[in-house]
Amino acid sequence: MTLRTVTFSPTGTTAKIVSAIASGIMDTIKCESIICDTTCRPAETFVADPDDITVIAAPVYGGKMAPIAKTRLTAIKGPDSPCVLVAVYGNRAFENALNDMADFATSLGFMPVAAGAFIGEHSYSSSATPIAVGRPDADDIESAREFGRNIGRHLLAGTLERIDTTRLHDRPSPEESLLNFRNFVTGYQKQQAVTPRKFLPEVNTALCSQCGQCIDICPVGAIGDDCLSVDGSKCIKCCACVKRCPANARSLHSPFAPILSQNFDTPKAPVLSL
Ligand SMILES: Cc1cc2nc3c(=O)[nH]c(=O)nc-3n(C[C@H](O)[C@H](O)[C@H](O)COP(=O)(O)O)c2cc1C
Repeated sequence: MTLRTVTFSPTGTTAKIVSAIASGIMDTIKCESIICDTTCRPAETFVADPDDITVIAAPVYGGKMAPIAKTRLTAIKGPDSPCVLVAVYGNRAFENALNDMADFATSLGFMPVAAGAFIGEHSYSSSATPIAVGRPDADDIESAREFGRNIGRHLLAGTLERIDTTRLHDRPSPEESLLNFRNFVTGYQKQQAVTPRKFLPEVNTALCSQCGQCIDICPVGAIGDDCLSVDGSKCIKCCACVKRCPANARSLHSPFAPILSQNFDTPKAPVLSL
């Protein structure tokens, strides 16, 4: 049996959850483990056997599986092979992400047998607009590991079955928060229709040493050789360059950050199905 983890994770929170789930699976069963990080490159071709288990993991972008993560996985196949779906979101909502992932994984031949929506620090979180800071925390990691152990136990017992992700729903947010967010999005869309404005990562040139790390870790190759220019037609606003700049020279001022910070500050718990 081979355990494969296939992960897209620009700011590393999805990768932390996946690593804990994989550890939990390996706590209970002996298997070969293959790590496939698709953050900066597409997954290499593989065909999973029905005896294997594949963990497919991506962040939630706009209530769906991050679209770019799908483009990274087109070369993998899993005819009748079980898979675990993992969506990591920034404490607002995962909405349709697990359904989206289930449809996508099924289109590759996989059979979703477990799914989890976990919380990660929001990509747009900053000291001025904190959102789910420090997530996944120790409790999240332990629940991911225990989720993995449960998957392992079911694998051993041969009791994994296809799951119905449409039964998985977001933990409720206060009505007022949802209304505030909806109103904000409506206003933002109206404003964008009249005067479209792009927000892109900015660089503090006094701090930037042009070390080039941001160029290497940008999933879409949007950063120019000087570390300063960003190709707006490529940038997906994932904030990898912001969170991983060793000099803290980069920032992204998302218009969504303040409303998210003000309205989704109550920590949510993971939603799991097996
Ligand atoms: C473009 C974009 C859209 C996002 N949309 C959502 C969302 O709909 N709901 C939510 O709760 N978090 C959302 N987030 C936050 C991420 O899902 C979250 O921070 C996640 O932990 C990032 O995963 P990573 O660390 O693996 O990159 C979004 C982040 C970005 C960059």
